[in-house]
Amino acid sequence: MYVIKNRWYAILSSRELGAKRPLARRRFGLELVLWRDASGRVAVARDSCPHRRAKLSPGRVRDGCIECPFHGFRYDAEGTCRAIPAHPDRPIPKAMTLDMIPAREAHDLVWVWTGPDPAPDEPIPFFDLDGYTYAGSECVVPVRTHYTRAIENQLDFAHLPFVHRTTIGVFAPTELVVATGVDGDRLTVGLEGQEPIIEFLGPNIWRNKTGAVWQFLAFVPIDDERMIYYVRSYQRFARVPGFSWLVGRVNRALNSVIIGQDTLVVETQPAVETRLRELDELLVQSDGPIIAYRRWRERHRGELAVDASSPLAVIQRDRERASA
Ligand code: FES
Ligand SMILES: [Fe+2]
Repeated sequence: MYVIKNRWYAILSSRELGAKRPLARRRFGLELVLWRDASGRVAVARDSCPHRRAKLSPGRVRDGCIECPFHGFRYDAEGTCRAIPAHPDRPIPKAMTLDMIPAREAHDLVWVWTGPDPAPDEPIPFFDLDGYTYAGSECVVPVRTHYTRAIENQLDFAHLPFVHRTTIGVFAPTELVVATGVDGDRLTVGLEGQEPIIEFLGPNIWRNKTGAVWQFLAFVPIDDERMIYYVRSYQRFARVPGFSWLVGRVNRALNSVIIGQDTLVVETQPAVETRLRELDELLVQSDGPIIAYRRWRERHRGELAVDASSPLAVIQRDRERASA
């Protein structure tokens, strides 16, 4: 699966990954295993034991290592094999390592680095959410489409009076001129002459800044045909814990309806990665943000580093070269 190279992708909500159990998740078309080491740090690897390729995710976490359920080999958060129980006194082969994907946790999300360059130390780019809470509001919505389709849907003002006729689109203008701003990985969208309200931060997060509540989305790729929305509403007017949770719950209910309306239409589009030229589509002025997004994407698109260097990918490439 193609990704934006050298970026942090949000791939999971922190609350899904406990301290004790490994977690299996499909992301970027790969089966991944996630776990926390002894200090709580997140580790992400391909869900495949280098010994005889059993899945690691049904295994256990022991002393911060993931233990394969087949023969008990243990791997630390760097992917290094620390124990082969059948031969405790023999040296461990150097090649007995996991395919790791650099991972980090920030803003209650788990992020992975796509490479090929090494992951930088700087904080992961995010929105300024000082003092805001999303308590009670998070929901997870799976959609049968490529994640680029979902991103484009959320950059699109012209769909509001149609798709959301009965909800947020009631007062949305049908006739409009859209203004798009591009600044590095940041794309802003608004109506001409007005403050932009949509902000997309590549590769896969978004917010809508209307009124006192900021809607937040992470567009998480599962594979070429499926993605998941992580949806949150951030606010800071309700601060008393029970009350802010309740506000979150109300927003969550609204968001489920709105995203449901989007999903009904987006799932009827071909579930393919969007491209600037290759698709059989005819774009118009109101698609300005979508064109800007596709342009940005084409500049940074590439293979996920772990995918490109995996034995299977190398075999595949060798085959393609041989038959070319
Ligand atoms: S397959 Fe994992 S330890 Fe044997
Ligand atoms: Fe929508």
